[in-house]
Amino acid sequence: MTELEATLEDMLAVERFDPPAGFTRRRPVEADRAAADLDAERFWADAARDLLTWDKPFTQVLDDTNPPFYTWFADGELNLSANCLDRHVSAGRGERVAFHWRGEEGERRDVTYAQLLADTQRLANGLRSLGVAAGDVVGIFLPMIPEVAVAMLACARIGAVHNVVFGGFAPSAVRERMEVSAAKVLITVDGARRKGRRAEVKAAVDAELGDLPALEHIVVVRGPRTGGDGGASEPAASGSGKEPAASGTGLAAGVGTGASEAPMTPGRDVWYDALLAGADPDCPAIPLPAEHPLFILYSSGSTAKPKGILHTTAGYLLGATYTHRMVFDINPDTDVYWCSADVGWITGHSYIVYGPLSNGATSVMYEGAPDYPDRDIWWQIIEEFQVTVFYTAPTAIRTCIKWGPEYPGRHDLSSLRVLGTVGEPINPKAWLWYHLVIGGGRCPIVDTWWQTETGSVLISPLAGVTSTKPGSATQPLPGISPALRSEDGEPVTEGTGVLVITKPWPSMLRTLYKDDKRFVETYFSRFGPTTYVVGDAARLDADGYYWIIGRIDDVINVSGHRLSTAEVESAIVAHEAVAEAAVVAEPDEQTGQAIVAFVTLAGEQTGDAAMEARLREHVAHRIGKLARPRRIIWADDLPKTRSGKIMRRLLRDVAAGRELGDVTTLRDPAVMAVITDRVRTARDDEE
Ligand code: PRX
Repeated sequence: MTELEATLEDMLAVERFDPPAGFTRRRPVEADRAAADLDAERFWADAARDLLTWDKPFTQVLDDTNPPFYTWFADGELNLSANCLDRHVSAGRGERVAFHWRGEEGERRDVTYAQLLADTQRLANGLRSLGVAAGDVVGIFLPMIPEVAVAMLACARIGAVHNVVFGGFAPSAVRERMEVSAAKVLITVDGARRKGRRAEVKAAVDAELGDLPALEHIVVVRGPRTGGDGGASEPAASGSGKEPAASGTGLAAGVGTGASEAPMTPGRDVWYDALLAGADPDCPAIPLPAEHPLFILYSSGSTAKPKGILHTTAGYLLGATYTHRMVFDINPDTDVYWCSADVGWITGHSYIVYGPLSNGATSVMYEGAPDYPDRDIWWQIIEEFQVTVFYTAPTAIRTCIKWGPEYPGRHDLSSLRVLGTVGEPINPKAWLWYHLVIGGGRCPIVDTWWQTETGSVLISPLAGVTSTKPGSATQPLPGISPALRSEDGEPVTEGTGVLVITKPWPSMLRTLYKDDKRFVETYFSRFGPTTYVVGDAARLDADGYYWIIGRIDDVINVSGHRLSTAEVESAIVAHEAVAEAAVVAEPDEQTGQAIVAFVTLAGEQTGDAAMEARLREHVAHRIGKLARPRRIIWADDLPKTRSGKIMRRLLRDVAAGRELGDVTTLRDPAVMAVITDRVRTARDDEE
């Protein structure tokens, strides 16, 4: 056991971490809590006046007369792009860098607020010239380049509703999302690169989407190119380019290298740069009603049919602005912020684009993969840009643990002051590794709980204020009212229950696009129209801290005892031999359900009977014999979505001996083939 492993092992016993002694918070927040507890509506109204710039001040705050169809600030008017751009430029901050863009071959492009504003105005006029009007849907399918932010802001400027699709999705998924939202224009890219390979995106998009009746135009951005004509200012030494192409056909998929000309259909397709060059540079931001639809985002998740989550302008922007500033303690004059998510997810919408820009912050935007050209690229970027606030996902942290501490060890990470996580419960071992290896023990960690539906973070520590417990998202933010309910709707004040939010909040989804019925059924049918059902189970401890257990269907019932897959996984990955684990239930005649664990071992270790016995004993030791997996399946990798979430749904299917469900969001289909085979062999051996 290395010294680090021994320290981690010792620290697993520490339950509570007070804010690091040397941490100085820059934005006081205590008064907000008191104000929100006294009168949440008034607190939000004050925050909306304070943080947002209005063309027409609102007089109404919350309208709750027709639950669950709430409105906020409904008679007020504002423009979101003016809040993200014009107000900073007119305050003399136009030369501030909005994005330090970093290409995967080492290129850099510093985009200022003034430049973003100039491009946004031209594109907004360009879109208008293509017939886009307020309320029309515009699809966006772009890699991580600054143009993705310009595209979103240009839509917001003219009141068009954007529908961003994650660049890792296949064109067929883009088609589905464009079709159901009847997008009029799609903004995409000629080709994208990933790990030195190039994917011909436009050609693939044409093949899938060419015949969509509502789609009138396709705007094509010239993507970054290795060898450098993609607007990159400083091409650096190029990488090896020897990595194999990724599978699939999304933007991230490589199908070859070298230059290519995208096929362009005259009359329908237009180059982005030509559209901007021909457009009037002035496009005044039009005042829009607070409840004007801002975007649709199809949620990743367990259901087969994606849900078109609809957010509106003012409430959403308020949530993103307030939480970005307060949770991460952002000071736009001094911080350099980096969220490693993709813009195609809600995390990217709220915490790469809208929250940071509304706050006038400087961010890093990174095009590439975390292991190209080498596994230290993230830490190199943090050192290069002196990043102070870093926000990532637990799955990424666990991957870094697997790779080993030598990669971050090559870089000076002393600029960091706040670390964040999002997307899934973080197991204490990963939390501690993040705390020690990345944060040097001096950075508060904010474990932020929220969803596509919530628009912004709802439960999270406030950096430097909240004492943290590894694995707990801690407490609700000011103005947010979560609670737990038992299966039959009784309040649970301590223990495990179904997580609900009992009062509306400004950044909540307003409906599912063109499907009010499904909106009500999904979120507001179980406990009535005023109680938002999150879909997660959680535990509330004696200190009033929330521990998110996971989606409701991730709870396993063994002999009538509820066990959380997250809890069992956390125990398994706390073992030094383990890199990653996923736990699901398999049906069992005797106990109802039994636990199956899919385990990836660290380094070169192999899974054998002795290791299995050790792990089972380890789980028994940490949780109890009841939680011991009945079966351990060794896996070289776990099935993940393109955003890195483990697809437990597929593992449940395998464990139950069912046909695999929808695999279209799976990043690497080969992983499931191996696992299915191993499960079959294990069963055959048993019989
Ligand atoms: O189960 C919760 C989990 O992710 C779900 C929301 O997924 P999505 O809409 O894709 O948004 C992800 C990014 C906000 C939640 O229902 N989740 C998210 N954050 C956490 C989390 N689970 C535990 N801890 C978190 N911090």
